[in-house]
Amino acid sequence: MKSIIIFLGPPGSGKGTHGDRLSKELGYNKISTGDILRESIRNKTTIGNKAKKFIDSGELVPDDIIINLIKEKISKTKGGIIFDGFPRTVEQADALSQYLDIDTVINFDMNDDEVISRLTKRRSCPKCNAVYHLIYNAPLRSKICDICGSELYQRDDDREETIRNRLAVYRDKTMPLIDYYNKKGLLVTVNGIGSIDKIFENIKELIQ
Ligand code: AP5
Repeated sequence: MKSIIIFLGPPGSGKGTHGDRLSKELGYNKISTGDILRESIRNKTTIGNKAKKFIDSGELVPDDIIINLIKEKISKTKGGIIFDGFPRTVEQADALSQYLDIDTVINFDMNDDEVISRLTKRRSCPKCNAVYHLIYNAPLRSKICDICGSELYQRDDDREETIRNRLAVYRDKTMPLIDYYNKKGLLVTVNGIGSIDKIFENIKELIQ
C-alpha cells in the first residue's frame, strides 16, 4: 500500500523535482500547494487573486485559504500522496492530522547559497509545472518544456530579493515543523545537495 509522505525543506531544495519523479515512477499523487496557487493565479480565480500578493512578496498565503484548498484536494485523491510544500505552519500540520495519518516526513537539508544558486537559474513550465535548471537539469531544447512543449518561464518569486525573504519566512514559520514531526517519530532528513539521481535513490530507499 502506498503511503502518505510530506516533503519538508527550504525553497529550492528539490521537493518539486523529486515529487514529480516519485509520481511518475511509483504512481504517487503529488499535491503541491505552490502549483495549485500558481494555477489559480493564472486562471484569475478568487483564491488566486487573494494569494498573488503573498506569493509575489515571498510571504505565506493565510492558513485558512490553504487548509480549505487542501481539504478539497484530499477528498478527491485516492492512493499514496506526496505533499510538496504543505504543511508550512504548525496550524496547517495540526489541520492535516485531522484528515490523514502521515507515514513519513522527508526533510531536505540545504544551505542558503545553494538555494539562491538553484532558484535564480530555475525555469518552470506554466502548463504541466515541470521544473528545470539551466545547468543541472536543462531542457533538451532551450526554453521549451520536454514534457508538454510549452515555453518555459522564470517565476516572479525567483528573484534574489524575494528568495531571501522566502528563506526568512521558512526559518520563522516552517522550520518549527522539523521539531514537530521529529517528536512524533516521523522525520527523516536527506542531504539535498548532490546529484538528482543519487538523492532520488536515497528517497526511494527511505519510503519503500
Ligand atoms: P512553492 O511553490 O511551494 O515554493 P517553495 O517551497 O519555495 O519551493 P520551490 O518550488 O521554490 O522549490 P522546490 O523545493 O520544489 O525545488 P525544485 O524541485 O523546484 O511555494 C511558492 C509560494 O506559494 C510560497 O512562497 C507561498 O507564498 C505560497 N505557498 C505555497 N504553499 C503554501 C502553504 N502550504 N502555505 C502558505 N503559503 C504557501 O528545485 C529548484 C531548482 O533546483 C530547479 O531548477 C531544479 O531543477 C534544481 N534542482 C533540484 N534538485 C537539484 C540537485 N540535486 N542538484 C542541482 N539542482 C537541482
